[in-house]
Amino acid sequence: MITKDEVLRALSEVHDPELKRSLTELGMVDKVEVDGGTVRVTVALTTRACPLQDRIADDVRAKLETLPGVERVEVDMSEMSKEKRDELFGRTLNAPIASPESKTRIIGVASGKGGVGKSTVTVNLGAALHLLGFDVAILDCDIYGFSVPRMVGVEGRRPVVVDGKIIPIPAHGMKVISMGNFVDDNTPVVWRGPMLGKILRQFLTDVVWGEPDFLLLDLPPGTGDMALDVAQLLPKAALLIVTTPQVVASNVAVRAAQMAFKTNQELIGVVENMSAFICPCCGEATPIFGEGGGRAVAEALGVPLLGSIPLTMEARTHGDQGVPVALAEGSPSQVAYLELAERVAQALGVSVKNSARGSGA
Ligand SMILES: Nc1ncnc2c1ncn2[C@@H]1O[C@H](COP(=O)(O)OP(=O)(O)OP(=O)(O)O)[C@@H](O)[C@H]1O
Ligand SMILES: [Mg+2]
Repeated sequence: MITKDEVLRALSEVHDPELKRSLTELGMVDKVEVDGGTVRVTVALTTRACPLQDRIADDVRAKLETLPGVERVEVDMSEMSKEKRDELFGRTLNAPIASPESKTRIIGVASGKGGVGKSTVTVNLGAALHLLGFDVAILDCDIYGFSVPRMVGVEGRRPVVVDGKIIPIPAHGMKVISMGNFVDDNTPVVWRGPMLGKILRQFLTDVVWGEPDFLLLDLPPGTGDMALDVAQLLPKAALLIVTTPQVVASNVAVRAAQMAFKTNQELIGVVENMSAFICPCCGEATPIFGEGGGRAVAEALGVPLLGSIPLTMEARTHGDQGVPVALAEGSPSQVAYLELAERVAQALGVSVKNSARGSGA
C-alpha cells in the first residue's frame, strides 16, 4: 500500500506555477490521507481566489496517479493562514539587498497624499547622499505613476539584461530602476494589486544592486497595496514621511505614517517639502503653503523633523530637465538637501563621510 511519505515525496516534485517552488517547500500541503488505493490531498492556497487552483489540482492528480498502488486521487483546496503566508513570502524572497545581514539601509519615501514631492525628495535625497560620499540606489516603486526616470534624465533608456539579471541604469552616480524603463512611452500600466507585489519582488531579486549604502524607494501615494508589499517584503525598510506645510496635507501624512506602526516599520522622521517659496530675484522667502505642517506631523508621530525643502523654481525646472536640483552648486535647495541627507544618515546610525559643510555648499 502507498504511504503518506511516498505521497509527500511525489508532491515535492509538483511546483506552484507562479512561485516556481514545490508545494512541500512552500508549505502548501495542508493534509494527506491515504485510504487503501485512495489518496486525499488538501492544498493550502495563498489565496482562495488563486486563479491557478485548477492547474495545481490537475498537476497534483497527474503526479500522484503515476504512483504504483494509487487508484483514486481527490484534491481539496484550503486557504493558508495569514501567519503562514507572511512566513512564506519572507522565505521566498531571496534578495541579498533585503537580507538583514546586508549593510544597505532601505528607506521608503512615503506620503498620504499625492503630489507633495515624494519623487522629488527621493531623487534629491539620493543625489545629496551621493554628494556626501555614499553609494546610492533608487527603486521607483510607483509602478503606475513612475516619475523617477524623467527626474534623473534616463527616460526611454532600457536597462541592460545579462543572463536574466537586470543591470540598474546609472544616473548622476546613482543606480536607478523604474517600471518606466520597461514600458513604451504612454503605455498605460494597468496591473491589478497582486501584480505589484510580484513586480517589486522581481525588482528586488532580479536586479544586480550590489550592496549600496542606501536604497531609496519612491513609493506611490497613500497606503495601498505597494505600501503593504514593501512592509511585507522589506521589513527592514524604514519610512521617511513627506508632507507640505499645509495642515490639511499633514493630517493625511499622519495617517500614512500610522500604517508604519501597524506593520512594525521604523519611522525615520518627517520632511517638509514646498516650505517657503524662495524668490529667484531677491531671495526673499514667502510661506505660500502656510507654515508648521512638517512640525505638526513630526510631533504627532513623535519623530524628528529632519528637513525643510524650499519651494523654488529651479527645483521644478531641474526635475523636468533630468538633473536633481540638489546638484545645483550653492543653491538653497542643495543646502537644504545636504542637511536632510546628513540628518537621515545620522538617524540611521551611518557616519557621514564628506560633511555637507566641506562640499562647498
Ligand atoms: N520643493 C519644490 N519646489 C518646486 N517644485 C517642486 C518641489 N517639490 C516638488 N515640486 C514639483 O511638484 C510636482 C510634484 O512633485 P512629485 O512628482 O515629486 O510629487 P509626488 O509626491 O511624487 O507625486 P505623486 O504622488 O504623483 O507620486 C513636480 O512637478 C515637482 O517638480
Ligand atoms: Mg511620485
